[in-house]
Amino acid sequence: MIRHVTDIDDLTRDELADVLTRAEDLKERTRRGKAHPELAGSSLAMIFEKPSTRTRISFETGMTQLGGHALFLGPNDIQLGHGEPVKDTARVLSRYVDAVMGRMFDHSDVTELAEYATVPVINGLTDDAHPCQTLADLLTIRERTGGFDARVAWVGDGNNVCQSFIKGAAMTGMDLTVATPAGYEPDPDVLDSAANLGGAPTLTDDPEEAVADADIVYTDVWVSMGQEDERAEKLSAFGGFQVDADLLGDRTLMHCLPAHRGEEVTNAVLESDRAAVWQQAENRLHAQKGLLTSLL
Ligand code: CP
Ligand code: NVA
Repeated sequence: MIRHVTDIDDLTRDELADVLTRAEDLKERTRRGKAHPELAGSSLAMIFEKPSTRTRISFETGMTQLGGHALFLGPNDIQLGHGEPVKDTARVLSRYVDAVMGRMFDHSDVTELAEYATVPVINGLTDDAHPCQTLADLLTIRERTGGFDARVAWVGDGNNVCQSFIKGAAMTGMDLTVATPAGYEPDPDVLDSAANLGGAPTLTDDPEEAVADADIVYTDVWVSMGQEDERAEKLSAFGGFQVDADLLGDRTLMHCLPAHRGEEVTNAVLESDRAAVWQQAENRLHAQKGLLTSLL
């Protein structure tokens, strides 16, 4: 059976554990400079409708380190950007490559890729979900705390990164409180899924309340890619949600990056030794290599 990862809960708990174990092993081998060409001869097509630093480069270098090859397919590079349907793209790419990664606006475009592809499809971020980020985040939390007993406070927008993290927290039994302004809460379907996976987060509109018992504070940009027209409205709604030195205290800071300093996070906390953000970014590479070796 072909396994797709359109969101983190497409993996079972055992598969998630296996991906994280593979990631730790591959990270160790990468650090020791040991060759690990486990995907020699394999190709990954990477469709990007939105910009990317981490996702693009970690998948591309990850495939190279595994002995394979990745193709960057930007909006102007393939016929998809000029009207060819997603389902046709999925069926054609499947005849050339061994897996497809898609960073798309509409989540339904990634699920359509998965419906028509005959190779594994991986979501590289949609408006609704970012499972690869969650894999790296879980790896980072386990490395820093030894497991998933940490208490995490999400402070900011309840969209893609938050929604996949909610499911990841439920799958690993992590204690999570989510603080968003009214109107920017996670999708109720995500909360239902989390409840079924093991536990929905506590919701609040008060950042201070969210961080009170937390070990880790996680935030993300207020204006996501594709929301540029909502900028003024969002900056106004998120006033009071900035993670600064007072709110962070002696807790660990997580951020998926890119960060908008002076908006969701201050320069001081991002540059401080409380920030786990560079470790998170590095772990994108190792987590995705774990995922790729598991799926292929
Ligand atoms: N965190 C993340 O997905 O970063 P990029 O947009 O740079 O890929
Ligand atoms: N919420 C952000 C995440 C970027 C990795 C966005 O969608 O732009």
